[in-house]
Amino acid sequence: MYKRGTKSVCFLLLALLWDSGYVLTIKRGDTAAHVNLTASCCPPKRCNVDGFNDWFKVDKYCVKYFRRPLNFTDAEKSCRRTVPGGHLVSVHNFRANNELLSIVKMKNPSNLRMWLGGYELFQSGKFLWTDGSFWDYSVWTPGEPINLYSSVEECVEMNWKVIGKWNDHGCNNKKGYICAFKHWGIIDE
Ligand SMILES: *[C@@H]1O[C@H](CO)[C@@H](O)[C@H](O)[C@H]1NC(C)=O
Ligand SMILES: *[C@@H]1O[C@H](CO)[C@@H](O)[C@H](O)[C@H]1NC(C)=O
Repeated sequence: MYKRGTKSVCFLLLALLWDSGYVLTIKRGDTAAHVNLTASCCPPKRCNVDGFNDWFKVDKYCVKYFRRPLNFTDAEKSCRRTVPGGHLVSVHNFRANNELLSIVKMKNPSNLRMWLGGYELFQSGKFLWTDGSFWDYSVWTPGEPINLYSSVEECVEMNWKVIGKWNDHGCNNKKGYICAFKHWGIIDE
């Protein structure tokens, strides 16, 4: 009962934010730093897959933050080794982005920069997710990504200049990262 109540409140909050134009504001590229959403809304639930109860459930994935800094390729490899079907996390909506942010804030508040699973395909200016899911959502830091069509900064990180937003950065840089996997046992609610 308690959990259900919390969830409705979260949905209500999101609905209100949507109505208030906050989401649109973000798409226009403002920093929106005055809205302290993460502090009050929707901490992620526990992953409900046996053996992964120290992971969180975000969107349709179970996810976990890893603190030891690795470059993008090593981080992706580490995710694949950690769990069958594991990859760096892909992000498909505002709520999931916010929940991932709240996880890193909880686990490593002094160093929020982390890899997501996005990368630019062969200097094409197009981004993909390492898990093969559609690139259907993005929240770039205003002005980013800047190094399209070059091999300078091809991988996607969160929390560089603007908390909660994304930046393209050289894949050789070492950062914390979030792994994710999908499983039939993850209950869709
Ligand atoms: C947001 O809230 C958290 C927790 O209450 C607090 O630590 C943080 O400083 C707040 N951030 C802003 C920008 O007000
Ligand atoms: C990541 O580090 C490994 C060594 O741990 C290296 O072999 C690999 O080339 C690096 N990848 C990138 C993109 O820098």
